Amino acid sequence: MNPKARIDELVNILNDANYNYYVLDNPTITDNEYDKYLRELINLEEKYPEYALINSPTKRVGGEVLDKFSKVNHKIPMLSLGNVFNEEELRDFDSRIKKAGVNPEYVCELKIDGLSVSLVYEKGLLKTGATRGDGVVGEDITHNVKTIKVIPIKLKKDIDIEVRGEIYMEKSTLQKLNKEREEQGLPLLQNVRNAAAGSIRQLDSKIAAKRNLNNFIYHLPNPSDYGITTHYAALEYMKNLGFKVNPANRLVHNIDEVWSFIEEWTKKRNDLPYDIDGVVIKVNDINEQRELGFTQKYPKWAIAYKFPAEDALTKLVDIVWTVGRTGKLTPNAVLEPVLVMGSTISRATLHNEDFVNNLELKIGDIVEIHKAGDVIPEVKGVKFERRTGKELDFKMIDVCPICKTALIKKPGQVDYYCPNELCPARGVEKLIHFASRDAMNIDGLGSEIIEDFFNEGFLNDIPDFYHLKDHEEEILLLEGFGQKSFNNIITAIENSKNNSLDKLLFGLGIPGIGSKTAKLLSENYENIDNLMNASLEELISIKDIGEILANNIYNYFQDNKDLIYKLKMLNINMNYLGVKKKSNDFITGKKFVMTGTISFMTRDEIKSLIEEYGGSFSESVSKKTDVVIVGSSPGSKYDKARELEITIWNEEQFKNLVEQLKK
Ligand code: IVH
Repeated sequence: MNPKARIDELVNILNDANYNYYVLDNPTITDNEYDKYLRELINLEEKYPEYALINSPTKRVGGEVLDKFSKVNHKIPMLSLGNVFNEEELRDFDSRIKKAGVNPEYVCELKIDGLSVSLVYEKGLLKTGATRGDGVVGEDITHNVKTIKVIPIKLKKDIDIEVRGEIYMEKSTLQKLNKEREEQGLPLLQNVRNAAAGSIRQLDSKIAAKRNLNNFIYHLPNPSDYGITTHYAALEYMKNLGFKVNPANRLVHNIDEVWSFIEEWTKKRNDLPYDIDGVVIKVNDINEQRELGFTQKYPKWAIAYKFPAEDALTKLVDIVWTVGRTGKLTPNAVLEPVLVMGSTISRATLHNEDFVNNLELKIGDIVEIHKAGDVIPEVKGVKFERRTGKELDFKMIDVCPICKTALIKKPGQVDYYCPNELCPARGVEKLIHFASRDAMNIDGLGSEIIEDFFNEGFLNDIPDFYHLKDHEEEILLLEGFGQKSFNNIITAIENSKNNSLDKLLFGLGIPGIGSKTAKLLSENYENIDNLMNASLEELISIKDIGEILANNIYNYFQDNKDLIYKLKMLNINMNYLGVKKKSNDFITGKKFVMTGTISFMTRDEIKSLIEEYGGSFSESVSKKTDVVIVGSSPGSKYDKARELEITIWNEEQFKNLVEQLKK
């Protein structure tokens, strides 16, 4: 088959597979098959860029980086909705409509907790994705919208159309993201809406691409242009164009049936993979909608029923401290158990001293508990009017609650740390972390067992895991241990010796090194010896490793040579077993800037190539720049490069290098 026809065919196969998987939730090919076709397509597109299609799935990985967002004027304003909070207010809405002489059918929809988006297509191709903004002018987020797999880049019909809907993040995605952020010491995102909004407002589309955003389409601003007379038909029409439309949408005949829908979803809302904060009710008939019209801010033909806030009140019984594996102290609220959004809460993090002081918390207070984004329970505020005078002041501690070492606070930081490397609390947490799934993944060794073994004296430091087999008799005497569970644990421990370097590095618990950074380091250094021999400067030059991390890594290995030696003697694998990062003497570790146009590659392609080989790409020329790639019609960066006497590559020199890399 000729390459053009094959490219067309692969794009169709892959886009169909995406549609079936993401929109219909009904996979038709295996992940392996998908990857195989995708790799074939990537190769063909590389060889024959002139045949690459605009709707190619390879365009979904992100890469476009903006300097700033441009503005988009909404042809029809993007309105918000009026709210009702109970059955009575809902029935008032229905009465107002009836008074206007309309006896409507309604469409009930789930009110997705995300942010609204307008999508404009021309001749069936996605042209612009924009946020609501102030309703009249929004921001152009097309580069990020293209990374959302449920949003079609090409519709099933070649028409001009605008549709609107909600971009959102699933609850499990937020949980995963927050876990990663915790590892990296970044502040946690409080709910799915903020997480989705933050992801879509990234200038770098690679970041949005990684956030696994999702979308439902629920509004067609111009139904009559397509001969459509009801909202329900509009939903069906948009579904047939390839959009994801919520299967829970329901056409009902009167307000009683609306209320039943609300009651049903009030019960079922926690079972959904995404958050909803209410139900949207819309008059079905488009002519009736037109008759009802708009107020200044809202359509009169639609309303949002908001679920009652599920915050709850309970008593703050105590504030206790936990010591993490890095020695960080976290205050925790001990609460009288209370039911919030389907789960019983008896503990909530209070983050740090400032958080407690800002809330003016006293022990014994009645506090308001909020379960943000269905994920993290949070103490929202104090009911001051319920104070009795018997509450006790919160006092910051000055020594570690476990080992009594004086706490330290680093300048400019809010957190206190226990500096004692041998603090038992830190010790146990360190061991739990080492065995955890993303680290050495020692099955069967959960936190409670590790604590028991620690208290029994079988486990003090990491190498002790690999000597646990010597404690067989003692362990078998412990409650809950049989020969079988003991054998399973020992097998899991033995298996962990074969893990790839990145898992080990993450498991060591080097401050600030999450699983991503561990992987990055492993790709760059391949084995632990190379990494241990790396100088500070070398570590800093790696993209995404800043000065603080580099120092942490460097100091860790200076201080822990013994530990690494012991682990080596225990035959623990210290090589990276994943795919090695490519390297090239002209690119790896160097800083590049580009100006002008290179005829055979786009700027984004050049950037990815350089990054693939471990170089970095920046926007402006400085003394630190190693190479400036100069294409035709260069800008002032060229002059600056000459002024600073930085190495310059012209198109031909760059082409030679690219050709070498292909070999
Ligand atoms: S209809 C004129 N339908 O809720 C029609 N909005 O509080 C306007 N939302 O700005 C929107 N799910 O961001 C509609 N099924 C749904 C919705 C929905 C979530 C959001 C949307 C809107 C906000 C209003």
